[in-house]
Amino acid sequence: MRWPAPISLRRRPFLLFGLLVALFTIPGVFSLRLVTLDTIEIFTTHEWFFKPTVVFRCNGENKTYLLDVKETHTLYTFKGEESWQPLTELPEKKCKRCGLFEEDAFKPDDVFDEWEMCSSDFKDGRYTRFKEDQFNATFLCPNCTASTGDHGNREPSAELETKKASIAVIIIVSVLASVLVIIALFGGYKYWQKKKRERDQARFLKLFEEGDDLEDELGLSNEL
Ligand SMILES: *[C@@H]1O[C@H](CO)[C@@H](O)[C@H](O)[C@H]1NC(C)=O
Ligand SMILES: *[C@@H]1O[C@H](CO)[C@@H](O)[C@H](O)[C@H]1NC(C)=O
Repeated sequence: MRWPAPISLRRRPFLLFGLLVALFTIPGVFSLRLVTLDTIEIFTTHEWFFKPTVVFRCNGENKTYLLDVKETHTLYTFKGEESWQPLTELPEKKCKRCGLFEEDAFKPDDVFDEWEMCSSDFKDGRYTRFKEDQFNATFLCPNCTASTGDHGNREPSAELETKKASIAVIIIVSVLASVLVIIALFGGYKYWQKKKRERDQARFLKLFEEGDDLEDELGLSNEL
């Protein structure tokens, strides 16, 4: 009797699936480096007659309109939950070219400043960009610096290693789960085949027995 094996194998993929779910929910492993605007103050506008339309944009991404920012020398403070937040998401080891512009309907946007925004620029999850006579803005990114202090530089690489290891584990577990599912299905098919054969045999034997009974009856009637 080989049939108990496929039954026990069939349960294992569910266990592995549970492990997968647990991996995905480990906090921090897949945390996003979302950048939000905390404060901004502009010192100039490039328009003479109209209120400015200030936009933030990173290369290859959509513009974010800072519709509240209209007056110069006024400090605007945000909660980070506004409809247009977060401004962007930063990759771990690569900078993004971002800038603050003033949208212009008739000519290319005026530039307040354009710069490389990097995860490593954030200290305590905070980064202030100041350009004389243009603006002073503070950006927040709580996940850009894992923690501050003496080992601030080592932590991100350790985090990257953890991430790589988790992805490797996920791939291995997925492959294992697929293989086990295939084995379970194959085992189930084999078991079904065996059962079918047994059933056919039983039916065949029964047919024989019935045939014998018939013969016996016939023999009996002949003797009489
Ligand atoms: C940019 O905006 C368009 C339309 O408003 C939208 O379909 C697209 O997904 C946006 N792209 C990004 C990267 O947010
Ligand atoms: C820029 O703004 C931040 C936050 O409001 C403030 O702490 C900092 O002193 C300002 N820097 C300058 C140069 O105005």
